[in-house]
Amino acid sequence: MFNNGWRKPSDVMANYLDRIGAGWILANPEVFDFDYIPQEMVGREDVQMELASKFATLHAPEGAGRAVITGPVGSGKTALARTFCRDIQRHLSNKRKIRSVHVNCRNASTSMRVVQRILHELAPGHPDRGLSMGELLMSLRRILRKETSHLIVVLDEVDHMLRRSGDDLLYQLLRIDEDQNGKGTLSLILVSQEQVLDVLETAVISRMGSTNHIRIKPYTVEGLEAIANQRATQGLVHGTWTTEILRLIAEKAAPTGDARRVIELLNAAVERCEFRQDEHSERRLAVEDIHVPLNNEPASQGSNLEHIDDLNSNAMLVLLALCRRLTKEESMTTGDVEQLYAVVCEEYEQKMKSHTTVWKYLKDFEERQIITSRVATVTGGRGRTTHLSMPHYLPKDLASRLEMLLRKKF
Ligand SMILES: Nc1ncnc2c1ncn2[C@@H]1O[C@H](COP(=O)(O)OP(=O)(O)OP(=O)(O)O)[C@@H](O)[C@H]1O
Ligand SMILES: [Mg+2]
Repeated sequence: MFNNGWRKPSDVMANYLDRIGAGWILANPEVFDFDYIPQEMVGREDVQMELASKFATLHAPEGAGRAVITGPVGSGKTALARTFCRDIQRHLSNKRKIRSVHVNCRNASTSMRVVQRILHELAPGHPDRGLSMGELLMSLRRILRKETSHLIVVLDEVDHMLRRSGDDLLYQLLRIDEDQNGKGTLSLILVSQEQVLDVLETAVISRMGSTNHIRIKPYTVEGLEAIANQRATQGLVHGTWTTEILRLIAEKAAPTGDARRVIELLNAAVERCEFRQDEHSERRLAVEDIHVPLNNEPASQGSNLEHIDDLNSNAMLVLLALCRRLTKEESMTTGDVEQLYAVVCEEYEQKMKSHTTVWKYLKDFEERQIITSRVATVTGGRGRTTHLSMPHYLPKDLASRLEMLLRKKF
């Protein structure tokens, strides 16, 4: 380096690019890809069973099934349909030849485009330009007959197509083998977000058979934790993460119930952790890593620090005690709170409030979503412990603000 701080361009280059591909934390980046399909769906055995039950006759030569899957954003609808199609083909491989086509109707939003996509998947060289709907369907029929395979068509985000082209195609597809008195050529799975369902789609559900409607729920914090755990196990270097940090990430994603969000948060934390590494750092995800702001974060979440300004000064002291511990640790027990609160009171020369009052403050913090609590049974069966964590704030930032506010009060 020169005296004036100027470095040869090649050095600078090397430094800021050093971390790329270092792989201290991240072992398999593809696990965090947008369209990565997990080997296994975790924690969704109930809906998987329900979906499979709609295809109970698929092993038989004339068997077919239909299903409509709806649920909120990121509840695993697409993953469920994709893994089902993959698994069923394997499962029936020596009984019946099954193919599947997954069309996302957001990109193919007219019935014409949808049929073109299906044909394109089945017969990549098939000419589709200038052909009418009737001709396209005829080609599809011919291909299926020639191949003697059963086709599962998944129309994902089907509301887009229904809105532009109506539901005619659905009936055409379901009747694809009628002309040859055949049966069981095609199965249909429709997928849509629950929120965007309107009257039109409700009619479709009833015509597909309301017993074939599978509604899936948003993920609970446990479900999100299991998904984070799956991605961490498959994607990260062994020993770089703990179940506690994954729990905190899951708690941060919990208000949305969205699996994509927990994966995004984990990915962002990994990126941050990877890029802050130097010779001295511990190769492990830390509390601060999970508070990287995401671009698409709703404004109500994240670090709106003024949210605590109206707390009374005693409550602030309790919260400060929490923040100090949670800067380093993912969670703490209520017992820890009292101990640390005593230390803070001493520091600010204030009398401690009673156990009940402290408890009341903690409840209030939870209601304001400053902290999250979870009751865990202690191993060995000696009662239950309440664990507190702070998924939506960076404890360090909150502590600084509290210290600033307390300075004015005392
Ligand atoms: N049970 C699960 N196990 C493992 N990964 C899951 C599970 N559920 C969802 N995922 C993953 O979470 C992400 C979001 O899931 P998916 O795309 O299936 O949600 P979706 O319900 O289709 O959302 P949208 O309404 O936005 O289409 C995907 O990367 C998916 O692989
Ligand atoms: Mg989807």
